[in-house]
Amino acid sequence: MTKSIEVRSITAAETLPLRMSVLRPNRPVEIARFPEDGFATTRHFGAFSGGNLLGIATLLRAALPEQPGELALQLRGMATAPEVRGKGFGRALLLACLAFARESDVPLLWCNARTSGVGFYRKLGFEIIGAEFQVPDVGPHFRMQVRPASQ
Ligand SMILES: CC(C)(COP(=O)(O)OP(=O)(O)OC[C@H]1O[C@@H](n2cnc3c(N)ncnc32)[C@H](O)[C@@H]1OP(=O)(O)O)[C@@H](O)C(=O)NCCC(=O)NCCS
Repeated sequence: MTKSIEVRSITAAETLPLRMSVLRPNRPVEIARFPEDGFATTRHFGAFSGGNLLGIATLLRAALPEQPGELALQLRGMATAPEVRGKGFGRALLLACLAFARESDVPLLWCNARTSGVGFYRKLGFEIIGAEFQVPDVGPHFRMQVRPASQ
């Protein structure tokens, strides 16, 4: 049975356990922190079920490098707990991010997607921009973008 999922704003500190365990395993906590975590324009979302935080996503104000003059949000720190993968937590988080971008009148949302996650982002309307590139210590990525107003 699909669990009921609640998405709401959380603090940067609340994102850290999942960021560390899923995205930066066996690395010091400093590696899991983003410089923009505390900025007023940054928003962190958590996906909960039964009171447990099972997915996270962070949106920060940053221009797409290929489109430097346009207001944009960068999606970072997207992760769901391994035990709930494929149950809609990631989708619920991305839908909240798209809704937030629309409410904020931000026309563009982008991310550096792990190549293994490209299919997930495609399902939510993202498209690839440019060639695959390597992120040191993490692996291959593609830049992806979506226009929230069209979703
Ligand atoms: C990528 C990730 C966030 C997806 O989260 P999730 O909770 O499993 O996603 P959902 O269950 O909401 O999946 C939504 C849809 O995407 C599909 N999907 C999920 N992960 C996918 C993947 N890696 N490749 C292709 N499709 C994928 C699901 O099958 C589902 O499709 P459906 O609507 O047809 O049923 C999660 O697997 C994760 O945290 N991975 C490790 C960290 C990571 O790679 N983060 C992204 C870094 S850029």
